[in-house]
Amino acid sequence: MCGIIGYIGFRDAKEILVDSLKRLEYRGYDSAGIAIIDKKQQLFKDIGEIDEIKKNLPDFKGTIGIGHTRWATHGGVTKENAHPHLSSNKKIAVVHNGIIENFTKLRDNLKKKGYKFLSQTDTEVIAQLIEDNYTGNLEKAVFSALKKVEGYYAIVVTCTDEPDKIVGARKDSPLVIGVGDNENYLASDVTAFLKYTNRVVYLNDGELCIISNKEIRIFDEKNIPIERKENLIKWDLKDAEKSGFPHFMLKEIYDQPETVHHVIRGRISEIYRTIEFNEKVENLLKNGINSINIIACGTSYYAGLIGKYLVEKLTGIPVNVELSSEYRYFGTRNESSLVIAVTQSGETLDTLAALKEAKNSGCKTLVVTNVVGSTATRISDAYILTQSGPEIGVAATKTFTSQILVLFLLALKISIIKNKIGADELYKYILQLKELPRNVRQILNQSKKISGIASKLKNANSVFFIGRGLNYPLSLEGALKLKEISYIHAEGFAAGELKHGPFALLTKTTPVVVIVTKDSTYAKMIANIGEVKARGPQVIAIAEDSDTEIDKHADFVLPFPSNSGLLSCVPITVILQLLAYHVANLRECSIDKPRNLAKSVTVE
Ligand code: F6R
Repeated sequence: MCGIIGYIGFRDAKEILVDSLKRLEYRGYDSAGIAIIDKKQQLFKDIGEIDEIKKNLPDFKGTIGIGHTRWATHGGVTKENAHPHLSSNKKIAVVHNGIIENFTKLRDNLKKKGYKFLSQTDTEVIAQLIEDNYTGNLEKAVFSALKKVEGYYAIVVTCTDEPDKIVGARKDSPLVIGVGDNENYLASDVTAFLKYTNRVVYLNDGELCIISNKEIRIFDEKNIPIERKENLIKWDLKDAEKSGFPHFMLKEIYDQPETVHHVIRGRISEIYRTIEFNEKVENLLKNGINSINIIACGTSYYAGLIGKYLVEKLTGIPVNVELSSEYRYFGTRNESSLVIAVTQSGETLDTLAALKEAKNSGCKTLVVTNVVGSTATRISDAYILTQSGPEIGVAATKTFTSQILVLFLLALKISIIKNKIGADELYKYILQLKELPRNVRQILNQSKKISGIASKLKNANSVFFIGRGLNYPLSLEGALKLKEISYIHAEGFAAGELKHGPFALLTKTTPVVVIVTKDSTYAKMIANIGEVKARGPQVIAIAEDSDTEIDKHADFVLPFPSNSGLLSCVPITVILQLLAYHVANLRECSIDKPRNLAKSVTVE
């Protein structure tokens, strides 16, 4: 859950580490620190956000160092528990992301040998263990230490006796090398060093690397050297910055006309009337799929629920959607089932564990993710990138709409393979996809109106969201977005379920957001609005712009374009995102970094 950076080269390491940590803050932000080698380890760490910590940072000099921004797992939020951690002789510095499961046993053994511990973290155990194994070669010491460790990690290590190298290693936590000229980087995310280089080398699970300013060496888990090619990252640095918006979340909401375009680019052909994925995905889909399991967490889970609706409607194949944290222990695994993991980061621990369970049970696995080179892409049979660019705001926005669209394209592809769709119907969907960026832009142009309605919600104690069919998972997502960034209690319900209990909570101060589409459930939704209003709440309807009746029933109406058909879930999502954003903004909440949350949940 933490952000890691290591730098070795010719520039001022302090400046680079602080700048990179700022970019990594979204991975965790309760404390941070750096250790720079200038003959000795110059260590500074504290609790708080990087901007605060930066103010008190001594003027360390040096061109090699490591840094860390933390989201506490082992040990409370204290200065002592912040990273980096030093070994007892103060020569070795370590930053770590992950959890060492046998750390208590390791610590007890090290204590018996005389090692002194200053923190409650599992990371300090790694630093001491490396010192305990050190005989003049850092990589050998790291290799031996990691053999004793159970759990998962990405670590970056320096040693004052060898100030010309940084050693990194990973197992189930991300770590990537940034390649420069006479300088190199190691980080948990590409965004950390994207300002300096877009050349990267990915590490696989179990691998260890040694970087100097001139050289990169990689070893597999048996300590055998391996050659690995460089990749070029196409992300632009400005993609990872706010581009003038007050918050990353708002920028990312406004990115959506473009990200919608990116996700379909190269995958739909209007001329040939087909849907195309990479070869591995195509082979997987041609294999004769009889059932699908979608596994995911949080917002990605809601994308999965939308995917179920789309796949079942377009292909007739049954889809089971399960929370990764449940599937990994209780899910039914059927070898003939395709398991699709939906994960923006590709690093969510529960989803990775569920994916591994699926693989071990003989299922074919496919990952939908935004992060090329992420762990999920490495352990699955095939993957599809959502191509949304970096998402910095903790609340998922553009990656959610891209996940829905990938699942929609998959549904179309499977229906083509299974001969379930005619050329005309497919063409209709292709045209709707191409129209989508314009429809999203239409919603963005309503931002002011949505902000006006947000002012009606900003003092509510509780807000309900209801809908049927596709609009039910959208209600769940609308409620999640509102609660996570505005801290207002919110719940999403299938509209037909309100009367089975939740009605008891409805009062004049419980606004209800109702998502209404002009489909077979329209009359039922209008009846539901009547039932809600009879109990006092104000009703905000999200409805088609061609719906001329809705004004008579709802107190406020937010329209979306009628022409999006099945894909109306995308413009509706954008309304829900803007609503949550404006409520949180009016309440002056920490929108990009909501309390207690971090972007990528690499703990159980
Ligand atoms: C909410 C949000 C989370 C994530 C969840 C899964 O806005 O972002 O609920 O969707 O933590 O993350 P990924 O998709 O990275 O597996």
